[in-house]
Amino acid sequence: MPWREARAASAAIKLSAAPHEVKLIGSDEPATAVWAYNAAVPGPILRGRQGETLRVEFSNRLDEATTVHWHGLRIPNAMDGVPYLTQDPIAPGGRFTYEFPLQDAGTFWYHPHVNTPMQVGRGLAGALIVDEADRPDVDRDVVWVLDDWRLQKDATFAPFGTLHDAAHAGRFGNVATINGRDLDPFEVTAGERLRLRLINAANARIFGLVIKEHDPWLIAVDGHPVKPRKLKNGRAIVAPGMRLDLIVDMTGKPGDSFDIIDSAYQRQTYRIARIAYRDASPRRRDRPPPNALQANPVAVPDMKSSVDHEMAFQGGAMGGLREAVFKGETKSLRDLAAMGMVWAVNGEVLPPLEAGDVGDPMLDLKLGRSYRLRWTNDTAFDHPIHLHGHSFHVLARNGAPLAEPQIQDTVLIAPEETVDVAFVADNPGDWALHCHVLEHAAAGMMGYLRVS
Ligand code: C2O
Ligand code: CU
Repeated sequence: MPWREARAASAAIKLSAAPHEVKLIGSDEPATAVWAYNAAVPGPILRGRQGETLRVEFSNRLDEATTVHWHGLRIPNAMDGVPYLTQDPIAPGGRFTYEFPLQDAGTFWYHPHVNTPMQVGRGLAGALIVDEADRPDVDRDVVWVLDDWRLQKDATFAPFGTLHDAAHAGRFGNVATINGRDLDPFEVTAGERLRLRLINAANARIFGLVIKEHDPWLIAVDGHPVKPRKLKNGRAIVAPGMRLDLIVDMTGKPGDSFDIIDSAYQRQTYRIARIAYRDASPRRRDRPPPNALQANPVAVPDMKSSVDHEMAFQGGAMGGLREAVFKGETKSLRDLAAMGMVWAVNGEVLPPLEAGDVGDPMLDLKLGRSYRLRWTNDTAFDHPIHLHGHSFHVLARNGAPLAEPQIQDTVLIAPEETVDVAFVADNPGDWALHCHVLEHAAAGMMGYLRVS
């Protein structure tokens, strides 16, 4: 791996956020003034074993407040890293120790939750890997953090926080990277079997990766095992916030080279990186299909006693929403746009939580009870909806049950699509629920659920 890995043990991991410079465009191009964890983009891979306790001593060396959120991990509320909701923002020069047990094995990640579109957009993101007791039989365990960056010609960041991004698909970049720079090439040995962990750390871009002439297995989504299956059309679709674990058999010959394509959006297919086979003699071949990973201890919701709620996501450009309630007052979309707030849930624009405007919970849930939420996308854009502190079972899309319910913490909902999810509210506290298109979250699509 090109960057360092920090393993959880009895000793604490030290993590800091600070300005740094990285060449994102190419080695002959100017560097970009990023913000980075431990002077690396992406940040160091934090790694522990399931059942261990992770202790991270964090220090903030930015000149603005921040926090660290552990995306996808079911941990005590006070460790969740959401400003004003679960902790005070960590001031410049400040420190905070995060410590929590690693209940679930799988692929997770960490990022700030303050001024998130800018802090994540400037490079603050890293992988958090929790190893299962029984690791699958692979030759290499590889992490790819997918990201994109909107840079100007001189490699500086294009301005953040435009209303256009907020009201449309979010901040799309013009430079896409794997692990912070072009993996050009990613070297492999013929015959080896990889576990490839994809993490989408981009503000807004959905990735749809295809490794030409390869046929990966999907073994986990958002850290949670699925029955191993081949990807449809070989394409790994990863929405912002999501993770996919793949098993990839390197079936090429020594000296071969294959493009890695991102074809998530029609007519915008591009090559993001390349795979190059070493001129080394091949490793063993004829791999059996991978075994399923052991399930994580996620409670199964009781659908006979579950309480149902509906949430309709509304607003944005071309969405047909004329007015919505903001802090108790009905306002026209035009007036809301003037305040930078353009999205609503069930007719209500959620106040900007990260700015300290913590309104009422969207729902009050009873600890231990099962809930089914029906999420409907009434907008013209995709929304990857993320819930903190819980992993939910995705039950159905547009009313059609999934062949097998899948456990996730972030689910992509296409325009006009309805997704049913269910979970046991078994983790007490206030838990953020938001779109992981970070510009959407900041513009009215971030609220929270209270479990008590
Ligand atoms: Cu990765 Cu609240 O998010
Ligand atoms: Cu969204």
